[in-house]
Amino acid sequence: MEQKKKLIEVALPLDKINEANVRDKNIHFGHPSNLHLWWARRPLASARAVIWASLVDDPSAHPELFPTEVEQAKERERLFRILEQLVVWENSNNEQVLEEAKAEIKKSMGDDIPELLDPFAGGGAIPLKGERLGLKSHAYDLNPVAVMINKAMIEIPPRYQGLPPVNPDSRDTKNMGEWDCSQGLAEDVKHYGQWMKEEAFKRIGHLYPKVKLDNGEEATPIAWIWARTVKCPNPACGAEVPLMKTLDLSTKKGKEVYVELEYHGGKPEFHVISGKSDSAGTVNRKGATCPHCGQAIDFGYIRDKSRNEEITSSMVAVVAEGKKGRLYLT
Ligand SMILES: C[S@@+](CC[C@H](N)C(=O)[O-])C[C@H]1O[C@@H](n2cnc3c(N)ncnc32)[C@H](O)[C@@H]1O
Ligand SMILES: [Zn+2]
Repeated sequence: MEQKKKLIEVALPLDKINEANVRDKNIHFGHPSNLHLWWARRPLASARAVIWASLVDDPSAHPELFPTEVEQAKERERLFRILEQLVVWENSNNEQVLEEAKAEIKKSMGDDIPELLDPFAGGGAIPLKGERLGLKSHAYDLNPVAVMINKAMIEIPPRYQGLPPVNPDSRDTKNMGEWDCSQGLAEDVKHYGQWMKEEAFKRIGHLYPKVKLDNGEEATPIAWIWARTVKCPNPACGAEVPLMKTLDLSTKKGKEVYVELEYHGGKPEFHVISGKSDSAGTVNRKGATCPHCGQAIDFGYIRDKSRNEEITSSMVAVVAEGKKGRLYLT
């Protein structure tokens, strides 16, 4: 079969795609990346651009329509304008933009639209965008978490497209007439998600006691920060050494918080303090250092301790949900 040259083989409006990619990384609300954190997730703009430009013919593949280079360049510019609209996040559900893009795919491919397979789908950016461009998409991954993300994002929603919710509250109170796209499913996810949250609180809430703040108020803990600890090899010291790359807990501008270490009879005590720590952590790429006596500790020693199950742990701080963000508590 003769292969026609595709747009991606000739040129792409890279500046515009990169611009959209940078924005993609900074969009948090409603973005699939919020579903679950995934490593090396491809920006959606790139995924769209690559899929589309791999299907659409470069104008040079049609000398009967664009005989001169000038005409080909002009047509290429027209295709670029479509692509530049396609990569903008706000156009994700813009039917007009999608239809225009799909029409170009059809012009190049006819009815022979290939199916898309991403065998390393991870966070699912590529199959998601393939599906939006009208390609039957298949996603695989070795990691079951990635499989779950893909199921939630591209397999389940189309099954409930346009259907009303099944939970009685939404059915009774929100008479929407027509339920568009995934609105019904979204109502159910919200409803049963809330139910699960309440049930979880009932069953295991007592394991997460509230923490008391200095002003007497209570806050809900959201994380406990721990450090692994190893006994200092200096026989004259023998203190517990927390293995921490940094003593900074938060480096968020204006909200910096760190811990100060204090020893009591060889046991470290951690105090949470506002600001940035001026001492380094206790471990770096070369090894660890005992904060109590200054003894250098090599990784061989730490590995031996670990093999013998002699690594212990210490709680460093509690993170609670404050009114204006996270609170770090001693
Ligand atoms: C860089 S990530 C892919 C990111 C993805 N393109 C996205 O946008 O989120 C690579 C993925 O390949 C998966 N993987 C690695 N080896 C694999 C294998 N042998 N079979 C299937 N998946 C594999 C990993 O679990 C990981 O999710
Ligand atoms: Zn020591």
